[in-house]
Amino acid sequence: MEIVHTLRDLRLRLAGEGLVGLVPTMGSLHDGHLALVKEASDHASCVVTSIFVNRLQFGPGEDFDRYPRDLEADTKRLASAGCQVVFAPTESEMYPIPQRYHVEPPPLQNDLEGAVRPGHFRGVCTVVLKLFHMVQPQVAIFGKKDYQQWTLLKEMVESLALPIRMIPGETIRAEDGLALSSRNAYLSSDERAEAPQLYLTLKRISSAIHAGNVSDHKLIIEQEAQALGQRGWHVDYLTLRSQHALSEPQAAERELVILAAARLGSTRLLDNLECFRSAVP
Ligand code: PAJ
Repeated sequence: MEIVHTLRDLRLRLAGEGLVGLVPTMGSLHDGHLALVKEASDHASCVVTSIFVNRLQFGPGEDFDRYPRDLEADTKRLASAGCQVVFAPTESEMYPIPQRYHVEPPPLQNDLEGAVRPGHFRGVCTVVLKLFHMVQPQVAIFGKKDYQQWTLLKEMVESLALPIRMIPGETIRAEDGLALSSRNAYLSSDERAEAPQLYLTLKRISSAIHAGNVSDHKLIIEQEAQALGQRGWHVDYLTLRSQHALSEPQAAERELVILAAARLGSTRLLDNLECFRSAVP
């Protein structure tokens, strides 16, 4: 495995490579990221993992400065996961001139995560498009853990006719159900013990919807959000959407996803669960 920090070295390293697969990350890698790398190696002969904490997607008061960074540990983990190239550009390599051109995503950018983090998806889409141009992969893998990000990026590729096959990766969880996340490192031990409740909530809502025993999903979601509130969570959103473009679900819609973001203390956790309505009420 080779570690490159500049675009020039990246181009030299990738010259003549056949099928290149890209896994974009911000580092602080866990088994969720490594599962994406393994998935990528099923589809590509050369897997590139990018590690770059992208200032553009962090709002003023967010955790850009304290975001965990450990390139040495990350590269050790990547070496044993089947990655061939680590692309870890510096800030000045990624943004040699002030980034004044941006990708403007559709209105979904202002919903859910975007409602709480204005400009976030503009920053994500801009850096991902830039990474696509730098690495020029044929295949790119993103986790469904960040469902809204996946949805927006998939549409970006389609909409801008980028010659890249987008592959989703399933969410990897700890044994107790908590979705792995670099931000889990911020949780105190009490918060860590409480954290799986978010996934348990999603599972309860999903089972009720799947069983077809809810005529009004809004009611059960409201009750579950209240229950989280009583346990000390601050719920930013808990909502049911269509898997397609995350629009409000129509009555006959069967492919759904429950999305949640909630804070435990100062840590914001994100999770979601795809859910299939078997009987339409
Ligand atoms: P980051 O949060 O580091 O995530 C990198 C990739 O790992 C994303 O596609 C994310 O969805 C996926 N991922 C995170 N946790 C996961 C889990 N538990 N199981 C499976 N996949 C998981 O997402 C970003 O970075 C950035 O926004 C980025 C796309 C790199 C642009 O800066």
